[in-house]
Amino acid sequence: MFDRSIKIAPSILAADFANFGAECRAIEAQGADWVHVDVMDGHFVPNLTFGPAMCAAIRPHIKGVMDVHLMIAPVDQYLEAYAKAGADVLTAHVEAGPHIHRTLQAIRGLGKKAGLAINPGTPVEAVSELLDMVDLICVMTVNPGFGGQSFIESQVAKVTRLRQMIGDRPVHIEIDGGITAVTAPLVAKAGADVLVAGSAVFKGGSVDNPAPYGANIRAIRAAAEAAIA
Ligand code: DX5
Ligand code: ZN
Repeated sequence: MFDRSIKIAPSILAADFANFGAECRAIEAQGADWVHVDVMDGHFVPNLTFGPAMCAAIRPHIKGVMDVHLMIAPVDQYLEAYAKAGADVLTAHVEAGPHIHRTLQAIRGLGKKAGLAINPGTPVEAVSELLDMVDLICVMTVNPGFGGQSFIESQVAKVTRLRQMIGDRPVHIEIDGGITAVTAPLVAKAGADVLVAGSAVFKGGSVDNPAPYGANIRAIRAAAEAAIA
């Protein structure tokens, strides 16, 4: 049975950059389902973050799913390195180049779950030919590059349409950007099941005081679950 229950995926973009191993252990201990890793290249998006070596270094500190969001272009030449670093899901952007079909084939060829991300300005039809080649579609509800931005509400209608397009295919809908206990119900109701949250999970806590991470994760999950109950 395909698991469409709500999953919370904290983005370590909002973690303490001097302490990633401990941060990953802390969020999992506090109830995170997946760990979301935002890879940025300073070209496809105006910010720089994590290379494959960093992903390999944190992998032993993650028991569950390591969800790697590649905001890079070109992307194909780096897939193998991120696969070897231990990613479970590799997500590339539909806007990252003219050959996204080949990119998705390559990800599955590496034995990984294939994710496809779509920016706020891209129509949902851009993914229609790719639905049978993906395990996850990530709808961006901010313009990618930075944490802590405001949720773009117009994307909720896109999620509703995407859910209809997916039908009974075993494809997760992930939402990334501006997710809080206030916005999570909107996208859960529209059909999303994986909710990425950076600032809303890490706010108020630290590796020495991780209880707020748990409270934040529970609040987002409860709000989302209530919307679909
Ligand atoms: C944005 C990243 C997001 C970001 C989410 O480019 O893809 O994963 O970290 O952060 P919040 O939850 O703070 O919007
Ligand atoms: Zn992300």
